[in-house]
Amino acid sequence: MHSFETFAMSVEPWTTKYRPRTSKDVAGNKTAVEKLRDWVESWSKGRPSKAAVLLYGPAGVGKTSVTEALARERGWDLVEINASDKRSGDILAKVAGLASTQSTLFSKGRLILLDEVDGINLRADQGAVATILQIIKDTQYPLILTANDLWDPKTRPLREACLQIELKRLGVRDGLPLLRNILNQEGVKANDDALRLMLDRDRGDIRSILNDMQLLSSRHRSLTVDDVDLLSGRDRTESIFEVLRVIFNSRTVASARRALSISDVDQEMLFQWIFENAPYQIPKPKELEEAMSALAQSDLYFGRIKRTQSWHLLSYALDLMTAGVAVA
Ligand SMILES: Nc1ncnc2c1ncn2[C@@H]1O[C@H](COP(=O)(O)OP(=O)(O)O)[C@@H](O)[C@H]1O
Ligand SMILES: [Mg+2]
Repeated sequence: MHSFETFAMSVEPWTTKYRPRTSKDVAGNKTAVEKLRDWVESWSKGRPSKAAVLLYGPAGVGKTSVTEALARERGWDLVEINASDKRSGDILAKVAGLASTQSTLFSKGRLILLDEVDGINLRADQGAVATILQIIKDTQYPLILTANDLWDPKTRPLREACLQIELKRLGVRDGLPLLRNILNQEGVKANDDALRLMLDRDRGDIRSILNDMQLLSSRHRSLTVDDVDLLSGRDRTESIFEVLRVIFNSRTVASARRALSISDVDQEMLFQWIFENAPYQIPKPKELEEAMSALAQSDLYFGRIKRTQSWHLLSYALDLMTAGVAVA
């Protein structure tokens, strides 16, 4: 049976499937990763002079992954909070509690991750920086803050309170072997020039590259420079991420349809992809529920199309899938 549930299980995004298990699996930035590991290990000798690390660098280089891997390696609990979450006020209060709780002889180790602190809306959330500073002061556990860019003068005190560790964008030397290895495991034939092109275009953002690669290779199990060109050559709006962005943000059915018509990816794969990503794109539970039900509805059509080979139904499925999500 071809059902919504089996769809849900059938595609795992490569970004989660190939997430680094240990800090040694993190490609590139060897010195920075070692420095971070040393700092984490130094907690076994008591609270170090800097109780917090600011791990900064561009998107998709492994900031979140390396933190998760370090906690896993040590068998610690990871308390992971996205600081840009709308409800960061409440959440920060909770973190403050967790961070300052004295550990007992029997309690498990703990690592606290305040992810994407630069996403804090400082205007709306004026107390946030002061609260985080307080958490840094009080914490009994290693605290890692991540950021792309801490340009705002208001976050300067945060920078100063932390040990700063930079993760740089991945270049060809570290990126190419990582991508090749993943494609090998997926049985996708790829041309090195295509991979170089992706690393260059996406500025070493491994998350975007893996997402794009998964979609591009979904049809033919191969990846060429032409495929990559198709994705981003003429116009960035042809990128699958532009497609998704339009689908998830546009309020009009027309623009969502247009987005789909210009995308050159396996349509079924695109559907699964939207399904996988919807929870991240649509944070409001009510809207997500509506979008999911639109997706489930269009999945019924996909199922019927495949069973009965009635391909004329495809346009209905696509309409439901894009229109339904866009208006949710
Ligand atoms: N240095 C890296 N080594 C291996 N995989 C990586 C690396 N950086 C990113 N990835 C892949 O990209 C995904 C997103 O990385 P993430 O840690 O969330 O990046 P960031 O937090 O810096 O934006 C990961 O799940 C992993 O699959
Ligand atoms: Mg991250």
